[in-house]
Amino acid sequence: MWFAVAIVIVVALVVAFYHMFKSRGSNQKRISVKGQGVLITGCDTGFGHDLAKRLDALGFQVFAGCLEENGPGARELEKSCSDRLQVLQLNVTKEEQVDAVKRNIETVHQKTGCGLWAVINNAGIDSIGDIEFSPMELYRRVADVNLFGVVHVTKTFLPMIRKSKGRVINNTSVKGRISLPRISVYGITKYGIENFSDCLRLEMRKFGVKVVIVEPGEFGGVTGILRGDNLKRLQSDMENMWKQASAEVRQVYGRKYLESQFSGLDNASKTSPSSTRPVVDAFVDALTLENPKTRYLVDGGVGLVDKYCFYARLNSYLPTSWMDFLVDRWFNSMGISEIGS
Ligand SMILES: NC(=O)c1ccc[n+]([C@@H]2O[C@H](COP(=O)([O-])OP(=O)(O)OC[C@H]3O[C@@H](n4cnc5c(N)ncnc54)[C@H](OP(=O)(O)O)[C@@H]3O)[C@@H](O)[C@H]2O)c1
Repeated sequence: MWFAVAIVIVVALVVAFYHMFKSRGSNQKRISVKGQGVLITGCDTGFGHDLAKRLDALGFQVFAGCLEENGPGARELEKSCSDRLQVLQLNVTKEEQVDAVKRNIETVHQKTGCGLWAVINNAGIDSIGDIEFSPMELYRRVADVNLFGVVHVTKTFLPMIRKSKGRVINNTSVKGRISLPRISVYGITKYGIENFSDCLRLEMRKFGVKVVIVEPGEFGGVTGILRGDNLKRLQSDMENMWKQASAEVRQVYGRKYLESQFSGLDNASKTSPSSTRPVVDAFVDALTLENPKTRYLVDGGVGLVDKYCFYARLNSYLPTSWMDFLVDRWFNSMGISEIGS
């Protein structure tokens, strides 16, 4: 019995490593899409910001959706990019802002004669916390941005994308491929976009539209997702969790346990690469390769492997009960010593 188990583990490890190395460096034909339009959401900071700069340098007409059109990220894009790039006010949860962006892009394209080649749904926010601590308001707030924002933006621009036989590219996460303790609020939105993207890909085949998913691993220290206002929001979410929890939940888990889940967030740079480049490269491949992959799982972290991506690869081959055993050993020990205190 144990011999068979060992064989399965070895085979799963070999296959996981094979896929990890195979995903590096494929030489495929690129299509010329110079001057075509690309809308990116969430360009104030992080992946979206760096991608907007890269695509501008490649000659695309970039429509950079920013949560704060007068914020420092937007100003920096205007300063450092060509005149083609347009910063547009875009909160993906606000219908009127999505509609205004659509009108703006239509007007530009009437003038230039170019089409909208791609929509890149990148905007997103993080969340942490046990299910018993996470209020419904938090589930709704995060899903509003990460999931319904993506659905709404995609539906709004699909007629333009169908016309250009272009692409919808969705930034999910490795956490859209693995389930871990304390990430359900974020995880359900990323699993949701994975499913939305898969359904859309199948529906769009007949129109020649490609749907691609980019799944970054651990890059938390190099983007804005765990910094500044986002870090403050996560800390204030934690205080709300404590305030709203029942006396019984407080007593069972304890304040120390809750705090331990949030400690170390400001140290994310220690376990994160120093550049967003691998993720930006994956977006460029998704956008310009004649035959892009359906999914780009992009390793981050530091050291030999990104443990999240490694788990995601194993997850495709190992039975759930085995994955539960491994996750329990690797991730569930976090903060467990504090439980009840
Ligand atoms: N970093 C990672 O390790 C990692 C890993 C896997 C997946 N991801 C995903 O990658 C995407 C980009 O995240 P990031 O890491 O680059 O973090 P980021 O630097 O915080 O970028 C997210 C961007 O989305 C914007 N945004 C927030 N709420 C919005 C809303 N309602 N409407 C429009 N824009 C909004 C943010 O604006 P503000 O700057 O004003 O907040 C920011 O510009 C997210 O979908 C995230 O889930 C990140």
